[in-house]
Amino acid sequence: MQKTALIRIDDKELSLPVMVGTEGEKAVDARKLRADTGYIFYDQGYGNTGSCESAITYLDGDNGILRHRGYPIEQLAAHSEYVETAYLVIYGELPTAEQRHAFGQLLRQHAPVETQMLKLVEAFPQDAPPMVMLGALVGSLAAFYPELATNNFEKDLKQFDLAAAIAISKIRTLGALIYRHKQGLPFTHPKDISFCDNFLHLMFSEPYQDYVAIPEVAQALNLILLMHADHEQNCSTSTTRMVGSSGANLFTSLSAAIGALSGPLHGGANVAVMQMLQSIHDEHDDGSRFIEAAKGGSKSNRLMGFGHAVYRNFDPRAKVIGQACQVVLNKLGKSDPLLDIAQHLEQAALKDDYFVSRKLYPNVDFYSGIILRALGIPTNMFTVMFAIGRSPGWIANWREVASNAKGRIYRPRQIYVGPVQRDYVPMAKRG
Ligand code: CMC
Repeated sequence: MQKTALIRIDDKELSLPVMVGTEGEKAVDARKLRADTGYIFYDQGYGNTGSCESAITYLDGDNGILRHRGYPIEQLAAHSEYVETAYLVIYGELPTAEQRHAFGQLLRQHAPVETQMLKLVEAFPQDAPPMVMLGALVGSLAAFYPELATNNFEKDLKQFDLAAAIAISKIRTLGALIYRHKQGLPFTHPKDISFCDNFLHLMFSEPYQDYVAIPEVAQALNLILLMHADHEQNCSTSTTRMVGSSGANLFTSLSAAIGALSGPLHGGANVAVMQMLQSIHDEHDDGSRFIEAAKGGSKSNRLMGFGHAVYRNFDPRAKVIGQACQVVLNKLGKSDPLLDIAQHLEQAALKDDYFVSRKLYPNVDFYSGIILRALGIPTNMFTVMFAIGRSPGWIANWREVASNAKGRIYRPRQIYVGPVQRDYVPMAKRG
């Protein structure tokens, strides 16, 4: 029997259907609520609102579970690599050897950016924030590929494959070019090598000497990108869906997602974490001033890299990355005092009642910077690294929206709290 939820309001009774997802997630289908009762649900920040049905990622925040297309993140981290996981996230299945080869080829083919785009990169002030540059450059892909700047790939799915590969590959290349522009280094050009090796080459090769990554470095980069590949309806992914729901093309939607990711409460947190750890290191203190300040309740003093909108338990990504930190440092023969500081800070926070009672644990951003730093990636590029990793998730979500023939434009309601109707006051009578 179909389960329903009963709402009684203003002497009206409404029976709302209950929906259940494949993992047992339950929702009350409120689509008819306003039309039938005149009421809406108020849910600031949408924390209790399911905005869509999605078959991409399952997240159970209470139990620290994250699965892409059914596969646990821990298994993907142990056995997969970034490009394969990207394919899985976008297309729904692990690729066969043939599909993996074709996807890799497409990514390699579309790694270079047009000469005009190089000029665009150069046109930015050298001190421009990397995420501002990335958002603008990715948006401009719609101008470079007008034939792919559509939301309708249903007639020719190969065109979608092309748009997706262009987006993933060029976001990676553009990330490296942004770094080089900011450093005042000459641009490098992609080679016919693997995705992560190519990124490291684009970042670090010199005109007189190619950078050849040792396998451990490429593997560590692979892990970081893979761990960011998708994360359900987070702020930037919901942004992608919202923009896509208007019929906007993939590149424009990705540009908007990059803007959403840049904020310090979202992807920008990985930069803030590193700044916090560095400051603790430079001031030779124990980090308690950050913990105490965070307990004040102000949004601007939060303990960065801690807490999550959905996890009320360990972020499984933080577990994997936290464990990988020491392994990566050992493999690279490096040590980092910031790792000790991070571990100490984590222990201190997890003993503090403020964090314990609110179930605030380290999130993905808490340890990722230690690995990125060990790879030689400067702090101001950390959120760009997040964007490179997250591009498959954004693309997969955009595709779900674009291919849903019955999908509606995203258009939340509000509770208006401004002035009630009043008459226009001429200038002479104001003040
Ligand atoms: N430091 C101190 N207090 C915190 C923190 C924190 N990092 N996070 C949450 N709180 C408090 C919050 O103020 C609230 O307190 P109270 O109940 O007294 O009002 C309580 O904990 C519950 O907050 P919440 O509802 O769990 O948090 P939220 O959903 O509003 O925000 C968040 C989630 C991720 C924005 C927040 O935890 C935060 O600002 N963390 C620091 C920034 C960060 O690391 N962001 C990266 C998130 S993971 C990667 C990503 O998505 O990009």
